[in-house]
This record gives sequence, C-alpha cells and structure tokens, in this order.
Amino acid sequence: MGQPEQRDEAGDGSPPLGVGMVGYAFMGAAHSQGWRTVGRVFDLPRRPVLAAVCGRDGAAVRAMADRHGWAAAETDWRALIERDDVDLVDICTPGDSHAEIALAALAAGKHVLCEKPLANTVEEAEAMAGAAEAARARGQVAMVGFNYRRVPAAALARSMVAEGRLGELRHVRVAYLQDWLTDPEFPLTWRLRKEAAGSGALGDLGAHIVDLAQYVAGERLAGVSALTETFVRERPLPEGASSGLSGAGGAGRGAVTVDDAALFTGRFTTGALASFEATRYATGRKNALRIELNGARGSLSFDLERLNELWYHDGTEPDTHAGFRRILVTEPDHPYLAAWWPPGHGLGYEHTFVHQARDLVHAVAEGTQPLPSFADGLQVQRVLAAVEESAAKNSVFTSVAV
Ligand SMILES: NC(=O)c1ccc[n+]([C@@H]2O[C@H](COP(=O)([O-])OP(=O)(O)OC[C@H]3O[C@@H](n4cnc5c(N)ncnc54)[C@H](O)[C@@H]3O)[C@@H](O)[C@H]2O)c1
Repeated sequence: MGQPEQRDEAGDGSPPLGVGMVGYAFMGAAHSQGWRTVGRVFDLPRRPVLAAVCGRDGAAVRAMADRHGWAAAETDWRALIERDDVDLVDICTPGDSHAEIALAALAAGKHVLCEKPLANTVEEAEAMAGAAEAARARGQVAMVGFNYRRVPAAALARSMVAEGRLGELRHVRVAYLQDWLTDPEFPLTWRLRKEAAGSGALGDLGAHIVDLAQYVAGERLAGVSALTETFVRERPLPEGASSGLSGAGGAGRGAVTVDDAALFTGRFTTGALASFEATRYATGRKNALRIELNGARGSLSFDLERLNELWYHDGTEPDTHAGFRRILVTEPDHPYLAAWWPPGHGLGYEHTFVHQARDLVHAVAEGTQPLPSFADGLQVQRVLAAVEESAAKNSVFTSVAV
C-alpha cells in the first residue's frame, strides 16, 4: 500500500499531524477528501498525514485506504487510537459509537474531530464535553463536524450579522429538506434505528440547522415547541451491505424507531423567534438547507443548493431601489476564498470539509479552542432533547437545559 501523504509535499518542514479516521463510508470519503486536499490549498502550520483508517471489514477498509490515500488500515478502532503515528482521531461512524471512541481517544492523549450529532443522548454528550474540557488543560483539542459553518456564504452571513447589518434580529427561519425516504420500501438502515442513530431527521438534519441558526444568529435557543412524525413505521430489513443512505431490502421487516420529520418553533434568548423544519420526505428536495434571517435593519437568505450565493436586503436603503440582492461569495476577501480560484469560480459541498480540516489544524498547532467545541455539540444535543420532550407532550413549550 502506498504512502503518498508521508512525503513532505510542501517541502517546508512543517511538522506532521497524523490523522486516524474511524468509519470509511459517506463521511469517511468526505473527510478523506478534506484531509488530502487541505495542505495543497492552504498554508498550514502542521502537515496532515493520512496515517490510518479503520473499519470492521478488513478487505473493504484496505480498498478504501488505497483509493483515498490512507497509509494503513485497521479493523479495530482501539488499535487505531493506540498508534503512535496518530495524533488526531477523526470519528466518522454512526452516533452509537461516538462517545466510546471519543472518550478513549481523549484519554489516550489524542485530538478529536467527531461527526455530528455529537452523541445519541445528552448524557453521552455531557461525558464527552467534560472529557474534552479536561483534555484541553492537557493541550488537546476537540471539535464537532458541523461543516456547514464552513460554507463561505454561511461564514459571511455570520460576520454580517455580527457587524450589525441586520440590526436586532426578529426572525430566523430554517429548513433542511431531503427526500430519500419517500420510497416506503427503502430498507431499515442504521439511520432509522434509534439505538444506532439516536433520532431520525431531528438528530441528522435538525442538528445541522440548530447549529447553523445559532452560529449565524450569534444567539442561543431558550426553548422550543415541537411536532415530530414517523410516516412509514415499518420497513424491509437490509440485505447485504448497507450504509445509512443506501442498501437493498430483504424479506423480513422491522420497526422504524426514529422520527421521519421534525418541525419546531423556538425562541432565542434575545427574544427573536425561530422556525425549524427537518424532513426526509420533502419530495423533490435533495439537500435544501435554507436559512433566512430578518432583523430591524435588513435580511439575509441562503440555500445550500446554491451555496456560492448569499442574498442580502439592506432595509436602510430607500424603498425605491431597495430589495434582495445577490452576493456572489467567491471574492478573495470572502471567508476561505483567497486560497481558492479566481472570482466566480464557485466551490461545492466537499470544500466545507477542507475548510473544517484547515481550521482544526490551526487550532491544534496554535493551541486554541476549535469551534464548534464539544460544549457547543452538547448544547445542540440539549436542544434536540427539548424538541423530543416537547413533541412527546403535545408541543408544550420546553426550555432548553443550560
Ligand atoms: N457533516 C455532514 O454533513 C454529515 C453527513 C452525513 C453523515 N454525517 C454524520 O457522520 C456519521 C457517519 O454517517 P455516514 O453517513 O458517513 O454513515 P455511513 O453508513 O455511510 O458510514 C458509517 C461508517 O462507520 C463504520 N462503522 C460503524 N460502526 C463502526 C465501528 N464500531 N468501528 C469501525 N467502523 C464502524 C461503517 O462500517 C461505515 O464505514 C454520523 O454521525 C452522521 O450523522 C454527517
């Protein structure tokens, strides 16, 4: 097996940062792309080395390692954590293993990147946030993979809100719409089982939009009122290999134990009102993450399916020529863009993982806390728990635990 990343590609002598990744399917491929590319685009204080990848199927994980440029393959994540050439453990497995792997990695002195949602329960997330705080005192860092913060237009939206261009926020309107579950014969993959995924559209899509809304608004949710629904309650059991988003159904059937959709309203601590919609049943919508913010002085609007664009209405302009205008977020002065292509040559989904890797490498090298932290991931988990509690109590307004 080749070791393409072991070379000092940059030739600048920057010290290596050995990455060990657990899980090698959808997010495994996306993170691999991020780690492989980041040092070729950005100047970094440390040079990521794709040291080892881990999965349970030896042949499959070795094939993945070859394809994506990982130097070694492991079949037990404990062995991956013990490797001397692994400085940072990147967790790309379903939620039921996040806590166990992250706690072991932090205890072993490693930095950690963990996919979202941070965990399957608030209790697990509390343990992880506590361990990350203790590890921080030992010079380790831990971050959650809410990658949509790393879309340049989302980061620009955050800075425009922070500059006060919207004035006092009144509304935050967010939806994350997919349609991959509309076929009732789609198999019962791990994403549809509570013990594996924690929750359904809520923990998967809802976690993203709660984090993004709070990040862009710069405010936190005080409480929520929610509805959840499971439209198809029984599905074929998967036959053969399956990932969360793909697989074939076999003869047997099993119960879907998570939500298919979650809708909730929320109140920010500052009084702004928010609405959230997360669904896997929005027929025709593939990955439409939309956020709009309305403030006293202006509005912003973004859709992930057109991720190089941010729409801005400056409410202080005369009505005669005010209106939403498109900002093409590809200028070198926009977040992350100076390192990429000339203006107008847009970026895509995969670049968020490059940016995530960039920010994390800087935090490791500079000893700063990367964001979102495990404490931020825990706070999102508490919002998700409040949503589930509210939905179980006929949508009664439920405070988010602090
Ligand atoms: N940031 C994003 O945009 C985004 C998108 C999709 C998924 N995710 C998150 O990423 C995580 C993984 O999701 P996915 O879609 O990549 O799932 P997937 O089904 O495509 O891949 C899961 C991988 O984990 C491996 N795995 C499971 N248990 C393991 C164990 N005990 N030891 C070693 N490997 C194990 C599987 O073999 C597989 O390689 C989830 O937490 C999910 O919520 C994030």
